[in-house]
Amino acid sequence: MKLLSLYLTLLLGSLVHAAPSESTSNIKESIIAPRGWVKRAPAPSDYAIELRIALPQPDFDELERHLYEISDPDHHRYGKYLTKEKIEEISSPSLASINAVRNWLVSHGYDEEYLSASSTKDGFRIRVPVSQAEEMLNTKYHIWEHTATGKTAVRTTAYSLPEELHVHVELVHPTIVFPGIRSMASSARLIPDIEVSTTNSSSSGGVDPVCNNEITIKCLQQIYKFVDYRPSADSGSRIGLTGYLEMFANEQDLQSFYADQRHDALNSSFALVSVNGGLNSQNLSEAGLEANLDVQFGLGLTFPLPGTFYSTAGRPPFKPDLLLPENTNEPYLDWLDFVLSHPNPPQVISTSYGEDEQTIPESYGRAVCKRFAQLGARGVSLFFSSGDSGVGDANPDPTTQMCKTNDGHNTTRFLPAFPASCPYVTTIGGTHHFPEVATSFSGGGFSDLFPRPSYQDDAVTEYLEKLPNGTYIGLFNKTGRAYPDLSAQSNNFAVFLGGVKRHVQGTSASAPTAAAIFALLNDARLRQGLPVLGFLNPLLYKIRNEHPDAFNDVTHGNNPGCGTQGFNATQGWDPVTGLGTPNFEKLKDIVLSMK
Ligand SMILES: *[C@@H]1O[C@H](CO)[C@@H](O)[C@H](O)[C@H]1NC(C)=O
Ligand SMILES: *[C@@H]1O[C@H](CO)[C@@H](O)[C@H](O)[C@H]1NC(C)=O
Ligand SMILES: *[C@@H]1O[C@H](CO)[C@@H](O)[C@H](O)[C@H]1NC(C)=O
Ligand SMILES: *[C@@H]1O[C@H](CO)[C@@H](O)[C@H](O)[C@H]1NC(C)=O
Ligand SMILES: *[C@@H]1O[C@H](CO)[C@@H](O)[C@H](O)[C@H]1NC(C)=O
Ligand SMILES: *[C@@H]1O[C@H](CO)[C@@H](O)[C@H](O)[C@H]1NC(C)=O
Ligand SMILES: *[C@@H]1O[C@H](CO)[C@@H](O)[C@H](O)[C@H]1NC(C)=O
Repeated sequence: MKLLSLYLTLLLGSLVHAAPSESTSNIKESIIAPRGWVKRAPAPSDYAIELRIALPQPDFDELERHLYEISDPDHHRYGKYLTKEKIEEISSPSLASINAVRNWLVSHGYDEEYLSASSTKDGFRIRVPVSQAEEMLNTKYHIWEHTATGKTAVRTTAYSLPEELHVHVELVHPTIVFPGIRSMASSARLIPDIEVSTTNSSSSGGVDPVCNNEITIKCLQQIYKFVDYRPSADSGSRIGLTGYLEMFANEQDLQSFYADQRHDALNSSFALVSVNGGLNSQNLSEAGLEANLDVQFGLGLTFPLPGTFYSTAGRPPFKPDLLLPENTNEPYLDWLDFVLSHPNPPQVISTSYGEDEQTIPESYGRAVCKRFAQLGARGVSLFFSSGDSGVGDANPDPTTQMCKTNDGHNTTRFLPAFPASCPYVTTIGGTHHFPEVATSFSGGGFSDLFPRPSYQDDAVTEYLEKLPNGTYIGLFNKTGRAYPDLSAQSNNFAVFLGGVKRHVQGTSASAPTAAAIFALLNDARLRQGLPVLGFLNPLLYKIRNEHPDAFNDVTHGNNPGCGTQGFNATQGWDPVTGLGTPNFEKLKDIVLSMK
């Protein structure tokens, strides 16, 4: 912030008399609207939108270099995370970009005072009526409706900027990002459906056989080997869980869950952090399945470590016009702005939301992913669910999966998920039973947007070489970032929702489970005076080479979709369960031996 506003002040003199740009306006970005969205009516010209104009980070390569050095356990800088200030310095837009965009805004009548107040770390945020945005971006906004859900959004499918501004603008929002985020908790069933095994005979590996039918905290402690581990409330290790889509974490349900599964945690709770005015209604009938699952297991597995629940509002921070429901802002950049501005965020954060990678504009996907890298460079481990549709698309019902590209050609293709496909996050697939088998819904595959990062070259190449020649040609991108990285249990999680015990499945369950285990590993490290683990992937793939038994390799199951059997879980890494599931005991020894 400091740098940016300093530059802005220095520039003031040269900008006051700037004339409107004479150059031609060319299309900066365009998309085909994602499937299911229908154009309803022109947006009212006086409808107010908050335009975010984000400028590129010219030194992202530098940031990435830092990220990989401090995340590489063999590098002398391992664990030496960058400060918030240093990240802001490396990530700030160039003076030339600030200058150019500022000039353009002045030419549209914004005065210096307004622009100074509107400047953000990565650009500007200005509130404009639709008519003004249409003029500036040479576009036409419409009210779009998502027919299946009735959601509406004011969007366009293309916008233009003066040619010389193209290199100086990363993205303008809202324009072409359609809301597509969804929760990965795919189904909940009432407990009487469960047939709990009555025999005790096959209690293998210290795991209660009941865990084949119902997953509790105790089951996860047994399966991942941390029954006897006692974290310390003041080690400094903390866990964060994110909530979107007005899914609320209910306190009363949390206490019911603790009474059922974790007596010693009774009366403890989480810190609620509201992002953009996000709420957390405590009306029991408004409790959200996703939020309850994340909070109950995320906190239940890590008690007494402090936990934070982020409730991010789906709307911008101004009062929406009454005519149009504005519950349609994109969520991640707002959340990222918030967390990146915080001096001391939790070192482990789990998110069980996502969308089809192909439905997000490339600029937006890259912008969000780069900001995840910034958090990684500050020492935050980010966990994301891999998705609940196997190799297929958003529709979890395999009989109606489209699996078609959204590029106008309708080509049949596996559809990777985002943010799962971002190389700077740790993506978690799903297993069930014991010994563990992949769940058929476990999302996995290869990004069409992000190339394969070098940390997973060996593991992924080894997998690809085992694939029968000619497998799924044209259905996936062999050179893309491959996911998941790890997996964990994801079926029959016993949670409380609206006062009732229910069972949930989805990679929504596996992401907070894996996150919790790494929050415990951070606890172990901090208590030895060692730094937290930060961005995990380079470490995880190294551990696979040097200590293969630190992960329980999952070698059975596959993730069908798009009319295929999907990929197979195999020995080593695979695009169903990643490197496998964590063995806490072994991982603890490894991470405590790394100085
Ligand atoms: C079954 O196992 C549980 C604990 O896992 C134990 O408390 C119980 O006594 C066992 N029942 C039988 C019949 O062995
Ligand atoms: C929780 O709080 C209630 C009400 O204050 C109290 O009666 C109860 O003893 C507490 N339970 C524990 C385990 O601390
Ligand atoms: C709780 O939420 C339900 C469902 O949204 C609503 O019908 C009810 O009026 C709410 N109760 C209170 C006390 O606000
Ligand atoms: C692609 O599919 C959509 C329906 O989902 C259809 O409206 C469109 O015409 C198709 N395009 C091509 C090129 O086949
Ligand atoms: C495959 O991935 C590479 C690397 O990310 C990318 O350059 C290429 O465009 C992708 N191909 C397709 C067909 O998506
Ligand atoms: C696939 O074909 C290549 C050369 O055509 C060969 O080297 C490789 O061993 C084959 N792989 C499998 C799994 O059959
Ligand atoms: C998965 O395994 C089955 C059975 O061994 C085999 O027929 C199939 O080709 C494999 N599929 C892939 C994508 O590896």
